[in-house]
Amino acid sequence: MAIRKKNYFMSELNAYIEKNKERFLEELFALLRKPSISTDPTHRHDIEATAKAVRERLEQAGCDTVEVCETPGNPVVFAEKKVSEDLPTILVYGHYDVQPPDPLDLWDNEPFEPVIKKTDIHPEGAIFARGACDDKGQMYMHVKAMETMMNTDSLPCNVKFMIEGEEEIGSENLGWFVERNREKLANDVILISDTGMIAKDVPSITTGLRGLSYVEVEVTGPNRDLHSGLYGGAVANPINVLTRMIASLQDDNKHITIPGFYDKVVELSAGERKKMAEAPFNLDAYKKSLDITAVEGEAGYSTNERNSIRPTLDVNGIWGGYMGEGAKTVIPSKAYAKISMRLVPDQDWEEIAQLFKTHFENIAPDSVSVKVNILHGGECYVTPVDGVEYEAASKAYEESFGKTPIPQRSGGSIPIVALFERELKSKSVLMGFGLDSDAIHSPNENFGVWNFFKGIETIPLFYKHFTALKK
Ligand code: BES
Ligand code: MN
Ligand code: MN
Repeated sequence: MAIRKKNYFMSELNAYIEKNKERFLEELFALLRKPSISTDPTHRHDIEATAKAVRERLEQAGCDTVEVCETPGNPVVFAEKKVSEDLPTILVYGHYDVQPPDPLDLWDNEPFEPVIKKTDIHPEGAIFARGACDDKGQMYMHVKAMETMMNTDSLPCNVKFMIEGEEEIGSENLGWFVERNREKLANDVILISDTGMIAKDVPSITTGLRGLSYVEVEVTGPNRDLHSGLYGGAVANPINVLTRMIASLQDDNKHITIPGFYDKVVELSAGERKKMAEAPFNLDAYKKSLDITAVEGEAGYSTNERNSIRPTLDVNGIWGGYMGEGAKTVIPSKAYAKISMRLVPDQDWEEIAQLFKTHFENIAPDSVSVKVNILHGGECYVTPVDGVEYEAASKAYEESFGKTPIPQRSGGSIPIVALFERELKSKSVLMGFGLDSDAIHSPNENFGVWNFFKGIETIPLFYKHFTALKK
């Protein structure tokens, strides 16, 4: 199973991909039809059916060992193809679970009935469905890349797959699984496609993910809902109090006011920031794509810095009081909010959650009581750009895109990646093929057909270069 000459390698693989394009898409559609929503326990059977389907696809792609591994939560699909003890092993990670599709009325098609539609960015068409990009579409690129290498006799190394069903809810049980299966998961590099790239003609490699601390707060005022005329002005309204407390968490410069919050934040050097500023970015197009007239964020930082190398605090949901039709004059007894903080090196998610809790309890006025519930979190991850993993990825993009990829730190989080490094002692490479316009987690999520096939084309090149560099 020698590595063939560059051009021969590419053309034979590309010919196989070309010949099987329609089938690849149909198979992905079958996966996208399964509503594997991990946060909603009523979808447990869809989770199980999706895990089973992924297992079958991996078997069909040519893996020898394929299994659905039970955990205290959602199952993990594991598969393996061993070529030789002497060759390196790539562990592919991805997730088959998806975010809930709501709000449903903002979708132009049914979220679990995938369709291909042309868009300005994707004149060749894009697949519209929940999970099209995040992460079924991107995960399936790896399954089809595997099939392509197997059927063209060009798999250059050993490969393992670990596809989980809890990424969108914090990967707690994948952590459980990894801790118990270090040997089984042993590898030389972890390969992940669950991020994005700058543009179709600007390939990039994700070199960082932010960490996350997620909390829910409850503010209680009077022991029951009250008539707002009889009591209004005389007792604390928990919604008024909560919104005031939340507003105080950032100052006029959008600097987070929680004491100690920035203590461990690593500042980038002027040189690193200058390098970042060279990545193509058009603020007007950015604003236009979001229908906003101005951006907002921490003073002293660019938009690209604000959404990647700086920590943030955002309210994800807020509720309480009367939310039905029409008006009701009431002072609610309780108010709630879900708040997330994105973290950067070297912030510790548990410590930040604790700092939040202490501060939030401290700033509560005597007129209310507050409870802070820490929901979940994970550490950030920064990949080295001087290792063989990065070099192999860079060469793969050079070959398939004809351009050197740009390293780019992302603002999103894949909390399990830091745990991989700790438990498995190997580096992760983030080769994402999504675009900002893919609307992941939003209505009308989509993934370019071109991106899907470009991923399938680029992945075997990573295998080839990584194996060659490791020898
Ligand atoms: N695939 C995303 C993360 C992502 C997307 C990173 C694009 C970089 C670029 C992942 O599925 C995700 O949504 N993660 C969550 C965290 C999770 C704990 C809910 C996130 O970032 O909000
Ligand atoms: Mn994802
Ligand atoms: Mn996601």
